[in-house]
Amino acid sequence: MSFMDWFNSGATGYDMAIDLGTANTLVAITGEGIVINEPSVVAIEKSTHRVLAVGHEAKNMINHTPEAFSAEHPLHDGVIADYDVTEAMLSAFINRAAQRKYPWQPKPRIVGCIPCGATSVEKRAVFEATIQAGARQAYLIEEPMAAAMGADLPVTEPTGSMVVDIGGGTTEVAIISLGGIVTSSSLRLAGNRMDEAIAMYLRDLLGIKIGERTAEVIKIKIGSILPFEDGRERDMIISGQDMLSEQPREVTIQSEDVRASLQAPIDEMVLHIKGTFKKTNPDLASDIIQNGILLTGGGGLLSGLDRYLTQQLEIPVWVSETALTNVVTGCLKVLETPTALKQTLMRSR
Ligand SMILES: Nc1ncnc2c1ncn2[C@@H]1O[C@H](COP(=O)(O)OP(=O)(O)OP(=O)(O)O)[C@@H](O)[C@H]1O
Ligand SMILES: [Mg+2]
Repeated sequence: MSFMDWFNSGATGYDMAIDLGTANTLVAITGEGIVINEPSVVAIEKSTHRVLAVGHEAKNMINHTPEAFSAEHPLHDGVIADYDVTEAMLSAFINRAAQRKYPWQPKPRIVGCIPCGATSVEKRAVFEATIQAGARQAYLIEEPMAAAMGADLPVTEPTGSMVVDIGGGTTEVAIISLGGIVTSSSLRLAGNRMDEAIAMYLRDLLGIKIGERTAEVIKIKIGSILPFEDGRERDMIISGQDMLSEQPREVTIQSEDVRASLQAPIDEMVLHIKGTFKKTNPDLASDIIQNGILLTGGGGLLSGLDRYLTQQLEIPVWVSETALTNVVTGCLKVLETPTALKQTLMRSR
């Protein structure tokens, strides 16, 4: 883009949308789309507290960190657990995304999001971290609203839309109509808890200890909540640590066992979604029965979850093809819509 093109595009030329998630952080730029999609992990030098790496590079260090380094997840349950580390991670991502083209280029305006269940202190922390990390102005919206916009649900229409966003840390459920959230709830149980459930089950069943990354790989490769549609079960070989001998051991994991381990956390989610739907007024409820429920977030990609929720809720549930990117795409849409920007939950003066 030439300087004149950039100048004519207005001050919003390099504005950014950020989905600061428990598991993944995504950054998108107006006019360009998604430029960063990396795990929310930071590698830190223990003695100096210096940030050594963020994102993919830091995640790869988790299970292989030399004694001198630690790899941290600065967000837990959808909110900031370590403020300084979150800010360092955000500013690394923002700087990488900004790739300033001109020295006089202004700092970007940034639209970010927070879970519905966040307290005002938790919301303020995300807001401050975004400013500190390099935003000229910051705006926050609720995560399920962003997800619904990203998935092109008719959020401003006088009809009820329902979203279930299962991330790494939280499951957000919201019913949206006329541009606002009518009912919402947030459960601090999502993809990470599925990983923990798998690890615990395998420990009890096979006497083997596995790390969080292995549990996640098992979930993504052979995890499911209903039998697979092709009727065939899966298995995979993993290596873990024998609980008794503390020696490394290889075992074959069966998909039926993984399914059994996921039953309890998923049923807790189902109860939570049912409870939120029950709070809806009858008109919106009938819209939702007609329109169906959007399932989004990485956790929503678990095999069979859309079919299982459809059975349990007796409402059609469809999983978004862009489950991992809807939130950041929705934040980008807010940036590109001046009226939406004015209605954001929290914004700089
Ligand atoms: N194909 C898949 N099957 C099952 N789970 C998956 C799949 N792909 C990703 N996940 C899980 O999705 C979760 C990450 O999803 P996402 O990126 O939406 O979370 P997040 O936005 O970072 O978290 P949160 O919204 O809770 O802060 C992880 O737990 C990951 O293991
Ligand atoms: Mg999320």
